[in-house]
Amino acid sequence: MNTLLDWRPAADTQGDRLALQNFECTTPKPSYGEPHPRPWEWDVQADIRQRLLKDTARHAQRDQRLLIADDDDGLAAVVAHAQMKECPSEINVPPGVPIRLLVVIAVANRHRRNGGAFADHALVECLYDILDREQGSDHIVVVTKIDFRNLPSMALAQRNGLELEVPGDENDPLGWWYLNLYR
Ligand SMILES: CC(C)(COP(=O)(O)OP(=O)(O)OC[C@H]1O[C@@H](n2cnc3c(N)ncnc32)[C@H](O)[C@@H]1OP(=O)(O)O)[C@@H](O)C(=O)NCCC(=O)NCCS
Repeated sequence: MNTLLDWRPAADTQGDRLALQNFECTTPKPSYGEPHPRPWEWDVQADIRQRLLKDTARHAQRDQRLLIADDDDGLAAVVAHAQMKECPSEINVPPGVPIRLLVVIAVANRHRRNGGAFADHALVECLYDILDREQGSDHIVVVTKIDFRNLPSMALAQRNGLELEVPGDENDPLGWWYLNLYR
């Protein structure tokens, strides 16, 4: 597996639009009436396909960045992050330390179930881009929301040193995770 991918910001071109619209990071929708085995993954895929490029343009003032990487078979991974003004009070952010929201991370199905190295690479790439965008800061707090049923995503977070601060549950599925990122 080649993890030395060429990452770049997604562009509002027909090529990138089509690639995002067809990105597959979860199992296909089951036949009519059947529930998806992981609807939270289906929602992430739908966001990537339908909204992420437009949302990124809309959140330019928050420096939202949508980064993509191709392999020989097309779009291989997607990450996005953006500045955040505030996060839940449970997460300790010292005064003056910027907060970055990891908006989304997803790898194409062909790179899933491979032990996680590819997903780790995508996350590290995202963290490097955050450092690059926050040149004036030696310390950045990276936060992200993960559905408490999304086990692969929580495993990815844990492997890479993120900590769960506000757990999700049946009523409010999105838990808050954070990482102190130092230059
Ligand atoms: C989050 C993500 C990047 C993590 O990737 P990863 O670390 O490579 O982890 P995997 O997706 O391979 O999942 C790990 C485990 O989940 C289970 N799993 C994954 N896909 C599965 C499938 N299609 N069927 C059954 N089990 C599956 C397996 O137990 C797998 O472990 P294994 O590698 O020992 O088989 C990836 O799961 C992903 O792109 N998910 C879809 C988008 C998403 O939900 N993003 C997070 C919120 S933004």
